[in-house]
Amino acid sequence: METVLSGIRSTGHLHLGNYFGALRNYIKMQDEYNCYFFIADLHSLTTHPHPADFHAGVRTILAEYLAAGLDPDKSALFVQSDIPEVSELYVLLNMIAYKGELERTASFKDKVRKQEDNVNAGLLTYPVLMASDILIHRANKVPVGKDQEQHLEIARVLARRFNKLYGADVFPEPQAFNFGSDLIKVPGLDGSGKMGKSEGNGIFLYDDEKSIHKKVMKAVTDSGPTEPNSKMPESIENIFTLLKIVSTPDTVAHFTEVYNNCSIRYGDLKKQLATDICKHTLPIRERIEEIYNDSDYLRKVAKAGCEKARESAQATLKEVRAAVGIKSF
Ligand code: TRP
Repeated sequence: METVLSGIRSTGHLHLGNYFGALRNYIKMQDEYNCYFFIADLHSLTTHPHPADFHAGVRTILAEYLAAGLDPDKSALFVQSDIPEVSELYVLLNMIAYKGELERTASFKDKVRKQEDNVNAGLLTYPVLMASDILIHRANKVPVGKDQEQHLEIARVLARRFNKLYGADVFPEPQAFNFGSDLIKVPGLDGSGKMGKSEGNGIFLYDDEKSIHKKVMKAVTDSGPTEPNSKMPESIENIFTLLKIVSTPDTVAHFTEVYNNCSIRYGDLKKQLATDICKHTLPIRERIEEIYNDSDYLRKVAKAGCEKARESAQATLKEVRAAVGIKSF
């Protein structure tokens, strides 16, 4: 069985775009692959989060992924910083990663621009840590968005370079897992593009009923169609796309009809959309709260995931150390 691995950022909340997009596919993959899903908390240290917030972020994300359907009995769910083998492999891979190639990555250049007073070495070697996450489990497939493709390419380069330099066949080259047409693209509320976490654009699984209604009512629309069967502008099309994701076909047909005959009232459309979003998210919100407050359960999940992950990590690291020539007396 092939191994799939994905790292999840430890900051923020899950939004509808994550939930109906990548997460839906992760849930399916759990039955078809040997899955490793982990929370990349070490990576977040590049931006110096306050120690008091650091663990809360990990706890929130773990609770949200569990509530949304990742199953600790099927996948290894763990926290990056619980796996010391990752940090050791990171040290070893840093020796074969070149400054020039790391400086050329788009994400590094972007960070240099955005946090010019904190261009730390961790930012430069961010892709090396990510390569360690992937290679330590000899993952075959990594589901990544466009913004992470260059990092995955660096993981392949380092795998190849390591195998060649040490004349060993330790690492397979990880490939991008492309969901293709299985990936539903969820539009945002701000009139254009896909859903993200920015204010006014995203709806989070953690949002309560009132804020969901408020956000949806504020979604960008226009002044309404004046000619029958006119083409929808992007902002309206986006609202219909969301409706198709969360509502029944009858509801979609009804609003399409009133749009086409120019009798649509956007207020009604938005109210319906908000109500139907709530039907999906409010039960999850309840589970998030339950899980977040259940320390025993979270501890159990993280411990089981850590054990699975460390077993696989230790097996790889043993081969890595032998290839490099590290030996104990
Ligand atoms: N860099 C990824 C992101 O920002 C998170 C990540 C860390 C990751 N390690 C990984 C993703 C390993 C895939 C595989 O989204």
